[in-house]
Order: sequence, then C-alpha cells, then structure tokens
Amino acid sequence: MCGIVGYCGRLNAQDVVLNGLEKLEYRGYDSAGISVLDNNILKTKKRAGRLENLEDALKDDPFTGNIGIGHTRWATHGIPNEINAHPHLNSDGTISVIHNGIIENYGELKDELLSKGYTFKSETDTEVIAHLLDFYYKDNFFDAVTNTVKRLKGAYALVMLCQKEPDTLIAVRHESPLIMGVSKENGCILASDIPSVLEYTRDVIYLDNDEMVVANLDGYKIYDKDLKEINKKSEKVEWDLEAASKEGFDHFMIKEIFDQPKAIEDAIKNKMKDDEINLELGSFTKEELENINRIYVVACGTAYHAGQVGKFAIEHFTKIPVMTDIASEFRYNSPFIDDKTLLILVSQSGETADTLAALREGKKHGAKVLSVTNVVGSSIARESDKTLYCYAGPEISVASTKAYTTQLIALYFLALDFAKKLGKISDDEVKNVINELKALPEKIASMLKDLTPYQEIANEIKEAKSIFYLGRGVDFISAKEGALKLKETTYIHTESFPAGELKHGSIALIEEGTNVFSIATQSKLIEKTASNTQELASRGAHVYSIGRVGDKSLEKYSNKVIYVPESLDILMPVLTVIPEQLIAYYTSLAKGNDVDKPRNLAKSVTVE
Ligand code: AGP
Ligand code: GLU
Repeated sequence: MCGIVGYCGRLNAQDVVLNGLEKLEYRGYDSAGISVLDNNILKTKKRAGRLENLEDALKDDPFTGNIGIGHTRWATHGIPNEINAHPHLNSDGTISVIHNGIIENYGELKDELLSKGYTFKSETDTEVIAHLLDFYYKDNFFDAVTNTVKRLKGAYALVMLCQKEPDTLIAVRHESPLIMGVSKENGCILASDIPSVLEYTRDVIYLDNDEMVVANLDGYKIYDKDLKEINKKSEKVEWDLEAASKEGFDHFMIKEIFDQPKAIEDAIKNKMKDDEINLELGSFTKEELENINRIYVVACGTAYHAGQVGKFAIEHFTKIPVMTDIASEFRYNSPFIDDKTLLILVSQSGETADTLAALREGKKHGAKVLSVTNVVGSSIARESDKTLYCYAGPEISVASTKAYTTQLIALYFLALDFAKKLGKISDDEVKNVINELKALPEKIASMLKDLTPYQEIANEIKEAKSIFYLGRGVDFISAKEGALKLKETTYIHTESFPAGELKHGSIALIEEGTNVFSIATQSKLIEKTASNTQELASRGAHVYSIGRVGDKSLEKYSNKVIYVPESLDILMPVLTVIPEQLIAYYTSLAKGNDVDKPRNLAKSVTVE
C-alpha cells in the first residue's frame, strides 16, 4: 500500500521525509511526491514511478524548511501518473494533503465542489480533500481540517499543510494506519509504518481511529474524535533498523526464508512460560471456550492458507468444527455470527482492509475476536478482543514467508490451548506435540543447507506457461500456498487443486511436459497421491513430488522428489512450505523479476 511521512522539527524536512519514504518502498507504490513549507512558501514536487525519480528532480531544486509531508501512492482512483500523485493541492497551491485509503463518498463531494466553482486537476478521490480544506478555511486550519473530516466517508490517514499557517502540520487517522515517532531533539514524524521513524526515535505513539495530531516546532498535541486534547503514551519499539535490513542477503525474501528457524523459535518461546502453554493476550479461559459454539477463521492470501491449516489443527486437537472464509467474501456470505461465535483473524500486517472489515462485521454481531498478527499495535490487533503475535520480526518482502510459518505456530498453540482447557487432549500428548514443534527450527535449518536442488528446479520451470500444484487434506493447503508463492513472485500462471479432483476436469490440461508439484506428506494419504502421480506421469507430466524423507513410494512416477524431514502429519505444512518458498524465490530470480516488490502487489492491502 501507499506510504505516508510527515515531519515537523529542527531537521531538514526534505531529508527526513525522503528517508522515511525510502523505508516504506516495500509497501508497493506507483508514484511519489513531497510538499515542504520553505521560508513560509508551500513548495510541492511529484513524479510518477519510483521514488528515485522524485529524488532526482529535487537534486536541482531542493526544498529547505522544517515542516514537510511526503507520499508514495498505490493508486485506487486514477491511473498511476504525476498528476494523480500526492500531495494534492487546493487551487492556489497554498494547502497540501497526502492520503492513504479511499474516500468512498468522493463522487458526491466532487459534484458539490464543482457546483461551487472548484476545478479538479486529477482523477483521484483524494483531491476533494484539498478543495474541501480550501472551502472550509476561513482563518483557522484546525477548524478547516475538522470541518473537512466530518464530510469524509471511507478510510483515510491524512497529513496536511497550510501556507497561511506555516509553522503547523496536522494529521488525522481513520481506518488507515498512522503512527507518530516522537523525540525531544528531532521533533515528530508521522508515518504509515515504524521503519520510517527508527533512525530518529524508538518512541512511537500508535494513533487510534479519529485521533488528530497538531504539530509545530515546539511539540505536538493529540485530540480525540470529540476534539478533546488527550495524552497518549509512547511505546518503545525494539525493532532494530538492521533487523529490517537485508543483513547481507541479496533480497528480503531470501533473508526472511532464512529467518524462519529463529522466527519459529521465538514464536514458540513467546507462547510458553515455565514449560507450559501461555498465550497471554491470546488466552481464553475454560468458561469463555465453553461459551463458544461456532468458530470462523478469516483472512486473505497467504494468511488465509495459514488459517486453513489452523482449521485442520483446531479440529484435529479439539474435535470442534471450524469454518474458514476469505475475508473479502466473509461479510457477503451472511455468516452465522452471534455472541457465541469466535472469529479468528489472521493478518501479517494487521492492516488488511478486507480483514479489518471482517473484524468489524464480526464485532457488530457480538462475536469474540482473536487476531493472529505480526505487527504490534496494528489496527486489527488493537480492535481485537485477544491477540496472538507471531514474533516474526519485520517482514519486508511482499511475498510472505516467515509470517506464514509463524502464523502456523500461533494457530497450533491456540489449538493445543483450546484442547487442553476443554479436556480433549492429555498433558502427555500436549508435551509430545510441543516437543515436535520445538524440533521444527532445526529441521528447517537442515533444509537450508543445500540450495542447489531448488536452483536447479527453478531453471527447469522458469519458462513454463502454467504450473499445477496438488495435494490431499492439509497437503492441499500447502499446494495452495506453493501455487500462490510461485505466482506472485514469478508471474507464471499457477493453479492448485485437491489431488482427488484431478480426474474431475483438471487432468484435461495435462500434456507432455506439463509441470506439476505433487505434495504428499500425510501418512494416510501418500498412497492415494502417489497414484495421482502415476496418472500424471502416464500423460507426460513433469512431476515434482514433495514427500517425507524415507518415503520411496513417490520416486517411481516423479521426475524429482524433494524430501522434507519427518514430523507429525498436522505439523508438516511448516516444513513443506520451505521448498515451495525457495523454488518461488529462485525462479523469480531466474526470470529477472523484482523479487521483493513484484509488480502490481503491495505488502499491505489497506484498501478494500
Ligand atoms: C502473501 O505472499 C501475499 N503477499 C498476500 O497474499 C498476503 O498474504 C495477503 O495480502 C494478506 O496480508 P496480511 O497477512 O498482511 O493480512
Ligand atoms: N485513494 C487515493 C488515490 O488513489 C490514495 C491511494 C493510496 O492509499 O495510496 O490516490
């Protein structure tokens, strides 16, 4: 999604803003722009494309001043070009606004403004904000902002400047993410995400919905939705900028794949205390659990796949049926929600608009909400009743890897905790599963020792037009995740389907040389999937099987078998996904793609 940075302090605003935007590039964007109050004159520059286009343009015409705002845009209304880039200005260029989100009623606001004689330069929804600020500006920018915001419907994180009040910066948050880094010596930095502020401060204030910041060179004030001044304490961010850097790897994606042994270790450690399960903020009492008669798991993309494995785990250990749904479908599928429903949301960023909307839909009908997320203080975390953090550390690459495996760990622990509290599992069985979980980091580390098999497969499949993934039971979920990883990093069309469905249609697509990944790790299903492999091979398919070390049954009809270490059936998705991630990474590399920032994709989709 887009990136927002606003600065007010003793440093050079252009430097802080551009530096902050660079740290947000991973969020995906298509254009960039900046405004600075330069000797009381509001100066603005925008460019389509990469941030460096804007930085190059500023080299010949740098802005000086201590208050500024900057934006990297991920278009929702209006094509990615310079005119539609933010900041957007009022007609005389004396008011500037940057925006993350969507103004859902921008059409009627635009008609109203046009009828008042305003003219528009861009096709964006955002530009209506600039003209509304102009319309409501009499002689007080604070009032202009509060009157404007009252008219807006939808999602917005805004940072605004006004030339007539050149010592002031105002920001408002509603649904879209916005945090503020604060420091006595460096002033305050508004941003969409933490990496932008870490170079200047570790003290961060997480703004809540409808809170407004008014900052000047002496400090800042925060107001709640009733415009009452409030005090919000800052939280110390432990993340080290280094931790968000590549640490010597070529790309964030491969770094984050290699982070997984440590990330999983941390994820396990933070779910236990004195050798017992301790889910802290994510823990339910026995009574709370007994009052639940329906469980939904809802998410998007990779997080949805994690949620589907979570379904298998919760049903396996508690024998309670679990329904899953894709967040963007959930509220339209008239879900059965009441105060006995538990809604589990999975989201790495904790800002995905579809998942946030599902959370609110659930709460509206009285559901208890637990979120599994990787970002402390994220919107989904703060609006949930309970939260289980992944402790994966910052995940920068758009393709989610360590977040996925640590989401699985969190969901396994949740399932065990439920089963234990409901008396569905013995202490010994809990201990056995936890020991198997603790053995995973080392097993993953062993799979990262020799990367050549994955590089070889990448070279074999990189020209493929389409590639199929299949599996049975929880292997089908792993097949879905493998297909998504490859698709989003290589742009090769992939399709995943239950192995048993092969004969019901998809087998018509199989011809000489068709590449198929067959996932076969579930002890009771290997034989059946092996016979699917035979059907594929007999039609000339090029079959790559992912199976358990020692299982020779796959070799007969597979061109190549990738063996993963043994574990409990239900835990195998944590291991199976490692070769899938590596094959996606190396194939993307082989195709010369922008591995960490695949085209059209964003790290956090904060618009519905
Ligand atoms: C995963 O590789 C993708 N980038 C995407 O499917 C992602 O999982 C999805 O957008 C959900 O994001 P979230 O986990 O931040 O909610
Ligand atoms: N809806 C606005 C636009 O299309 C903002 C998009 C964003 O969040 O970057 O310009």
